[in-house]
Amino acid sequence: MTVAPRPADGQLDQSPVSLADFADLAREVLPAEVWDFVSGGSGVETTLAANRAALDRVAVLPRVLAGVEQPRTDAVLLGRAQSMPVAVAPMAYQRLLHPDGEPALAAAAGAAGVPYVLSTLSSAPIEEVVAATDGPVWFQLYWLRDRALVADLLDRAHAAGCAALMVTVDVPVLGRRLRDARNGFALPPEVIAANLPGGRDDLAHAGTPGVSAVAVHTGAVFAPVLTWADLAWLRGRTRLPLLVKGILDPRDAVRAADAGVDAVVVSNHGGRQFDGAPATATMLPEVVAAVGDRIEVLVDSGVRSGTDVLRALALGATGVLLGRPLLWALAAGGRAGAQAALDLLAVELRDGLTLTGCADPGQARRLRTLTGG
Ligand SMILES: Cc1cc2nc3c(=O)[nH]c(=O)nc-3n(C[C@H](O)[C@H](O)[C@H](O)COP(=O)(O)O)c2cc1C
Repeated sequence: MTVAPRPADGQLDQSPVSLADFADLAREVLPAEVWDFVSGGSGVETTLAANRAALDRVAVLPRVLAGVEQPRTDAVLLGRAQSMPVAVAPMAYQRLLHPDGEPALAAAAGAAGVPYVLSTLSSAPIEEVVAATDGPVWFQLYWLRDRALVADLLDRAHAAGCAALMVTVDVPVLGRRLRDARNGFALPPEVIAANLPGGRDDLAHAGTPGVSAVAVHTGAVFAPVLTWADLAWLRGRTRLPLLVKGILDPRDAVRAADAGVDAVVVSNHGGRQFDGAPATATMLPEVVAAVGDRIEVLVDSGVRSGTDVLRALALGATGVLLGRPLLWALAAGGRAGAQAALDLLAVELRDGLTLTGCADPGQARRLRTLTGG
């Protein structure tokens, strides 16, 4: 796998004017199988496409004569003020995209004033990523077969100063990602799961035709069964704010709220897990109706612009996780690329608030939406 030469950190060849432009830049520099790993979904990618289609169907009814000149974009998530109601979604193996990997994206998030969610499958150690940014880092936990290892990761996240814990509950097994299987996708030797003991690393690096080595590796280390009792154990083990990511059914959101979590993330993993799951924009209003008065409700999957953030707010979300566009931006320009993408998102969000007559994101949550355009 060869990575094409790319602009030095701090420069971008062209000036992207939308997050989609970063995808075009990334595609030019990334090996085809890395592009596929990041951009693809599971199965025939029905859910991947549904996420976008559902967001596109959400029309937001603007208010006029509101006298708003410069809306504020700042918001409070989990009790902490930030520059906009956005956080960087947890995403594995960021050194696949750029040698600077997680520390670069975390630093960009810190500079932009938004939290960075650090994946269990980070290719840089927790401590190195936290040290690279002035901003808050939330630790994302995948439940591992080895409970002692889970406890060790939690201890390390606490000791490093992570500000919240996010447990992902939609990966009992990795979704069948056909692009990766067709590509016989395996991690290059320099990209490792830096927070896990090295014993199973060879599995992620063994290229086999027709098989995703990443799927084989996660199958070996992830716990295939996760229950509400495990969530209760986790709640009892940390005083940090706890988020559960991967909720779609409002009944699960109610159980999570009953279990004492601080937030749910309505997510279908960007269409990478159960292909056939509904779009998150479809389920978000039901989840907000079920638990929005008790806990925070965040959403991800398919968000590609400030307009999409505004749509999510208008559907009742308190915050949004931004995923793939930031990996594309990281690939295109390292830390500077990711920062440019977050700056662009802030501009788009501010424009959206202005154009819908909102003084701040809180007002956007009171806008009416219509589906069907
Ligand atoms: C390359 C890649 C790696 C990911 N790794 C993780 C992960 O380690 N943990 C996790 O909870 N979610 C992971 N996700 C899912 C994201 O957190 C998020 O739910 C998804 O990307 C949102 O969809 P979007 O990219 O279309 O915005 C990953 C997504 C991508 C694209």
